[in-house]
Amino acid sequence: MKEVLADLIVLTGFSEEDPQILRRYTAVTAVWQEEVTQVFYDTLYGHRATAAVFRGGERPSREQTLRNWYQTVTEGNIDEKFWQWQWFVGLVHIPRGITNPFMMGMMSRVQQLFWHKCRENMSLDEAEMVYGAFKRVTDVIAGLIAEGYFQSYVHAMERMSGQSRTLIDRMVHMEVEEMLAEARRR
Ligand code: HEM
Repeated sequence: MKEVLADLIVLTGFSEEDPQILRRYTAVTAVWQEEVTQVFYDTLYGHRATAAVFRGGERPSREQTLRNWYQTVTEGNIDEKFWQWQWFVGLVHIPRGITNPFMMGMMSRVQQLFWHKCRENMSLDEAEMVYGAFKRVTDVIAGLIAEGYFQSYVHAMERMSGQSRTLIDRMVHMEVEEMLAEARRR
C-alpha cells in the first residue's frame, strides 16, 4: 500500500496543504453532506446494475458509511490510518461485486457535485483552491481503492492456489504475451 500511495501522491500533486485547506472550509462543505449522500445513493439505486448490489434494507447503513467518509475527507482527517482504510475498501468491495468502474463513476459524480457546490458558494479563486484539494485527495482515494481491489484479488488467488506471487506474475506475463500475439495476428 505504501508504494502505491507514494506514487499517487507524487503523480496527483497531493500535498499536506490539501487536508489543511479542506479543514479551513469544513463549515461550508459540511452543509453539503446530506445532498452528496442522497445523490450518491439515488444514482446507485436508480441504475439497475448498481441497485442489484444492495441487500434489502441496507440503504440507511450505507448512507451512514458515506456520511462518515465525506465528513472525514472534508474535515481533512487524512492520515496513515485513513489511507489504509481506503485501501481496505477495495477488499470490502470485492465480495459484494462492486467493480472499479462503479466506484470510479461514483467518485466522478461526487467530484462534479462538489465542484458545482464550490462554484455556487465561493469566489472563483476559493472554489478552485478548495475543489483542487478535494479533487487530489479523492483521486488518491480512488487510486487506492482500485489498486487495493486488484492487489487483494491477486492475493486471494495466491492464497487459494498456494502459488507464490512471483510465480503467478511470471505465468500471467507469459499468458499475456500469448494474448498480445493473438490480438496482433487478427
Ligand atoms: C466514491 C466511491 C466509493 C467510496 C469512497 C466508497 C467507500 C466505502 C467505504 C468507506 C466502505 C466501508 C468499508 C468498511 O467496512 O470500513 C464501503 C463499503 C461498501 N460500499 Fe463503497 N464506496 C464507493 C463506491 C461504492 C459503490 C459504487 C457501491 C455500489 C455499487 C458501493 C457499495 C458498498 C457496499 C455495499 C459496502 C458494504 C460492504 C460490506 O460491508 O459488505 N460503494 N464503501
